[in-house]
Amino acid sequence: MHKILIGVTGGIAAYKIPDLVRELKRQNFQVKVILTPFAEKFITKLTFATISDGAYTQEDWEDKPLLHIELARWADVFLIAPATANTVGKIRNGIADNLLLTTVLAYNKPLLIAPAMNTVMYKSPQVQENLKKLKEWNHIIIEPEFGVLACEEVGEGKLASKERLIDWIYFSLEPKHLKDLKVLITCGATREFIDPVRYISNLSSGEMGFSLARVARWRGANVKVIAGHTSVPEPPEIQITRVNTTEEMREEVLKHYDWANIVIMNAAVSDYRPSQTSPKKIKKQEKLTLELVKNPDILEELGKRKKHQFLVGFALESENLIHYGKEKLIRKNLDLLVANPTESMGSKNHRGYIITPDGVEEFSFSTKLESARFIWDKIAEMLSKRP
Ligand SMILES: Cc1cc2nc3c(=O)[nH]c(=O)nc-3n(C[C@H](O)[C@H](O)[C@H](O)COP(=O)(O)O)c2cc1C
Repeated sequence: MHKILIGVTGGIAAYKIPDLVRELKRQNFQVKVILTPFAEKFITKLTFATISDGAYTQEDWEDKPLLHIELARWADVFLIAPATANTVGKIRNGIADNLLLTTVLAYNKPLLIAPAMNTVMYKSPQVQENLKKLKEWNHIIIEPEFGVLACEEVGEGKLASKERLIDWIYFSLEPKHLKDLKVLITCGATREFIDPVRYISNLSSGEMGFSLARVARWRGANVKVIAGHTSVPEPPEIQITRVNTTEEMREEVLKHYDWANIVIMNAAVSDYRPSQTSPKKIKKQEKLTLELVKNPDILEELGKRKKHQFLVGFALESENLIHYGKEKLIRKNLDLLVANPTESMGSKNHRGYIITPDGVEEFSFSTKLESARFIWDKIAEMLSKRP
């Protein structure tokens, strides 16, 4: 169980941190919290003591003189959220005049720092210079967001969302064995329009592709996603290009193909599209026949054009999964194929087979995130054996 230490400082966004702690506990993390004396003016120690695995303030230090060392050694990840301009400035200058700042100095891994403040304060040369220096020291600055601030101004300075903060915690915990690799992932369902309001599509939610993208980012890769229609939240901190049709997806993928070292084609693209799209909404009639024509096979085209890329395909079949999978791996010139039974589409659970030229491996996980980790382990293993 990973251990997360959160330093809360005296900014108005301190009220959001109990919610973050609750979510981290729900995701099975151990969480301890340090409050600065100013943070205690915004939120009480009692709140955190109730929902976390330990909450500490200045007074606790008097009873336990080595508390700063103990907490620094305990933490796998140390997040400061919200980080005030004051605390950012003090960290940059090595000032250690409270429990939180002293624990920072006793911690020897990169910190996660999430500043939150009024826009003018955030843009000030003092704060910007301090943040720049902290980045140079390999600390991670979780950029604040644009929005309505507590001072009623609209601008940059809002604390990063809970989802982003948690994503960076996962980033900090994950090994970086995909460092500097360029990864292109397609996901979601394409839409083939019949008229301006109707289309042919499928049940793909995009969750598998988004999970693969998140894990790749956490492991150090530079990730680009090309997504059709999706019905789950987008992964934070990842560049996503949206497309509608299979033809649009093909065009976008080809634009980035030479850039990529690893290409994962997870999108559920439509094999067929209507031979024509009506420019006007089709009126109700007794009988309507749609003529469909074949869409381009993007994966097959990528297989033919393959140079340095490691190419991964997905196959969804209702029967003879392994047989069709093996055949597709060879026919489309893939390095790895993930074969899933039809019930995995749009579902939370995930099972299937990884098929490579070396053999077939079965997997079954309760979340697509776990499957994504497993698939990336396999890809990294195969890449490490490449000459
Ligand atoms: C109502 C109120 C809201 C504040 N909000 C912020 C804030 O959002 N960000 C910030 O950097 N400072 C904010 N401050 C100023 C800090 O509380 C002040 O700089 C303090 O010294 C921070 O101490 P600490 O960094 O040790 O917690 C606020 C002050 C008050 C009175």
